[in-house]
Amino acid sequence: VPGASDTSELLARVRARPLPRHVAIIMDGNGRWAQARGLPRVAGHREGASAVRRVTQAARRLGLQALTLYAFSMQNWSRPADEVEALMLLLVEFLEKEQQELLGNAIRLNAIGDLARLPPRVGERLEAVRRATAGGQAMTLTLALSYGGREELVHAAQVAAASGGSIDEAAMEAGLWTRGLPDLDLLVRTSGERRISNFLLWQAAYAELYFTDTHWPAFDERELLLAVADFQARERRFGLTAEQVAARGGRE
Ligand code: FPP
Repeated sequence: VPGASDTSELLARVRARPLPRHVAIIMDGNGRWAQARGLPRVAGHREGASAVRRVTQAARRLGLQALTLYAFSMQNWSRPADEVEALMLLLVEFLEKEQQELLGNAIRLNAIGDLARLPPRVGERLEAVRRATAGGQAMTLTLALSYGGREELVHAAQVAAASGGSIDEAAMEAGLWTRGLPDLDLLVRTSGERRISNFLLWQAAYAELYFTDTHWPAFDERELLLAVADFQARERRFGLTAEQVAARGGRE
């Protein structure tokens, strides 16, 4: 965004236009961030956890209704055991340290994924914070943990089939782990890769995609605002023509 030299100016600009309701982020590049500094990968994850705090606060200040973060994929279970262990530890630490901050800011913590696979101490902490913050009305922070998009779709299809009715879009939606969240408007991926990597496959159907080369540990409020400003400059057509969209009254 040319001319937006300073974050508060950018914030004012972004606030003046319709915001995405639901933003999701594929937090990539912790390892590369660490490697570039001659640090172990775990140092990148630690800094990545700080970025989670920072970006959650920024999203809340901005006024997003929902922020969904890809913290651990189904496929991440295959990483070296010590790295998986370190990520689980960071997660528990995050949950313990942030509970008060979440409560104080009326942020509801939510989680999606095959949560039964999480180590018991992670699952228990997660449940405790979910329960404690359930009344949070300002924003929903969803952590995708042991998450896979195909796995979610299989789950949704199973729920739909078990309900005995016809398997249509509404029945599938009802079986998704994201049930109840606003439609996904903007999907961000950090660190240069241009893939969806099995994240929110159903939900991304009409989302705008935004890619940045910034590694996740370096992602901050300004980066979030740049992504939202980019979103605001696009015309979402949902399969209609530009003329039809204009006749319905613009971008929303
Ligand atoms: C991708 O970096 C990131 C992850 C696999 C995990 C994301 C985890 C965090 C941000 C920290 C803990 C989370 C919370 C919610 C406290 P990568 O390791 O794939 O990076 P690389 O592609 O550069 O190796």
